[in-house]
Amino acid sequence: MKNILIVGGAGYIGSHMAKYLSTKDYMPIVLDNLVCGHRGAVKYGPFFEGSISDSNLLQKIFSDYPISAVMHFAAFCYVGESVKEPAKYYRNNVADTLALLEVMVEKNIGNFIFSSSCAVYGEPVEIPITEDHPKRPISPYGRTKLVVEQILDDFREAYGLESICLRYFNAAGADPDGELGEDHNPETHLIPLVLKTALGQQPRVDIFGDDYPTPDGTCVRDYIHIEDLARAHLLALERLLTCLPGGAYNLGNAEGYSVKQVIEVCRRITGKEIPASVVERRSGDPAVLVSSSEKAMRDLGWKPQFPDLETIVETAWTWHKNNPNGYDT
Ligand code: UFG
Repeated sequence: MKNILIVGGAGYIGSHMAKYLSTKDYMPIVLDNLVCGHRGAVKYGPFFEGSISDSNLLQKIFSDYPISAVMHFAAFCYVGESVKEPAKYYRNNVADTLALLEVMVEKNIGNFIFSSSCAVYGEPVEIPITEDHPKRPISPYGRTKLVVEQILDDFREAYGLESICLRYFNAAGADPDGELGEDHNPETHLIPLVLKTALGQQPRVDIFGDDYPTPDGTCVRDYIHIEDLARAHLLALERLLTCLPGGAYNLGNAEGYSVKQVIEVCRRITGKEIPASVVERRSGDPAVLVSSSEKAMRDLGWKPQFPDLETIVETAWTWHKNNPNGYDT
């Protein structure tokens, strides 16, 4: 059984990844400082509480376990916060990641899978977005992701550290078994906020602008189910373990839903009214972000299993209903 170190494995995507790997005969080993993650979300494999900047702890983990690859989910991910506190983002997302990569080189760990983001592209010049779309991120968050991608290119060249960067569009949904889900604090993402409104935890959903150049005036996004993301990581891992070259891949469903469409689907699935009102635009939101994932389909053999928004919302709703206060429920 191969050991895979999952940094940020107590967070939303990392925790689902640990479970998914454990069902596919890999041993997930989780390292998380629990700043954003939840101890209750770590249900598979050994757990180490600590930071990716703690070289001593990393040395110990790499000495105690033969690690076949590292998967990185340990970034801060709020675009708005990154504008107000760029130092926090460059420190954690770039400097601490660099520290981790240096220990990997020292310990001769040769495979890295990185959670990147469609935020590396910035304002789209064409839709759907392919991997060679210009990369002009418009937030510090997006820039931190692009910088790490560039570091990884340089590390491949200089040290032979092979890597795959997976550029997610909008990760959503929850574990189909209902065991894991999305629990951010504060929550800023659309689907969990709509479902919290359905649960009566907030009076209404704010729709950030309805004057965008889209069919109903609200922003269009490409939502991708968390388990489809996990499967893409597994395929990326297997690509690296068979010594095929790394690179960057978009992960989305090539289909966009507007904010209003998302709220409608949530109303149908929950059977709740879900009040919503239009407020000012949120700064930094592009009108439309839709992925071309043809490269991932071609090279990785990836095919989304849960592409429809109904299933994405259903799995999220099951988790939110059963865990109204997240992992503190
Ligand atoms: N939205 C609302 N009301 C809300 C919350 C969100 O109308 O209360 C809208 C946003 O304006 C956006 C859409 O719903 O148009 C989706 O917003 P999210 O915050 O759920 O997701 P984003 O598209 O902003 O963010 C995602 C990822 C980020 C990534 C970013 C790239 O979560 O990690 O795409 O732009 F950086």
